[in-house]
Amino acid sequence: MKQYNTSKAIRSELEQLRKNSATVGFVPTMGALHQGHLALIKRAKAENKFVVCSIFVNPLQFNRQEDLKSYPNRMEQDKKMLESVNCDYLFTPSREDLYAKAPNLDFEFGSLGVGMEAEYRPGHFEGVAAVIDRFLDVLQPDRAYFGEKDYQQLAIVKWLVEQKDSNTEIVGCETERFPNGLAMSSRNYNLKEAEFEQASEIYKLMQYCKRQLHQKTPQELSTYAFEKLKEDFQPEYFTIVDEETLKPIQSWSDTAKPRVFVAAYLSSVRLIDNMSLID
Ligand code: PAJ
Repeated sequence: MKQYNTSKAIRSELEQLRKNSATVGFVPTMGALHQGHLALIKRAKAENKFVVCSIFVNPLQFNRQEDLKSYPNRMEQDKKMLESVNCDYLFTPSREDLYAKAPNLDFEFGSLGVGMEAEYRPGHFEGVAAVIDRFLDVLQPDRAYFGEKDYQQLAIVKWLVEQKDSNTEIVGCETERFPNGLAMSSRNYNLKEAEFEQASEIYKLMQYCKRQLHQKTPQELSTYAFEKLKEDFQPEYFTIVDEETLKPIQSWSDTAKPRVFVAAYLSSVRLIDNMSLID
């Protein structure tokens, strides 16, 4: 695996590859890799000649300084993991390199940028859109891979690519979970052992909603789950929305594609998850 630290160097390397009509898949990450990230790399490997993974903890998308400071750093382990799945390129730019030109933070996301993460992390998606905008300009990949784990982010990135009229195809990939249902996440590295089991309650409550679909109203399910979460977590939201517009639904007839979204703190670790309520 070749590592590049500057936009200039990786851009010229990829230009060479493209001259030979090679396809490039891109997997942006903030490091502290786990099997969820590796699933994206493997998919990108299967669908492209070359794969670039970036590791960049993007300061613009953190609305809390504590969160940025406590973000796990595991660069040496990350490199080994990337090599184990034959990733071709690792891009680790500095802030100065990536943001040499002041980034645009002015986006009109519409309903995608209103609730859930947008509400609880003001400015977060502007920061995500800014960094992805910059990465796509530098790397110009044929495809870029994002996890459904961050479903609202995936929707924002699809929106961005349409706005930019970019040629990059955005590929959404299913959420990888532990056997207990907990979604894999870099933040899990900060969970204590007992909390790891407790954290699976989020998955159990989403499954409960799926089973109870049409037995109860969306509001009844959300309220029940939110109250239940309060026993061990500090929940921020537990909400059922239309998966295209991300607008909350009042009744099941409001959407053909209901999806549940959750954010909750387990001690100091912020966990998010989501799941389609239909098969
Ligand atoms: P990060 O949290 O490192 O995630 C990188 C990618 O891995 C995202 O597309 C995310 O949705 C995906 N991912 C995380 N956990 C996953 C899981 N359990 N199953 C499947 N995919 C999973 O998301 C970011 O970084 C940043 O916001 C970024 C897009 C890199 C922009 O800075």
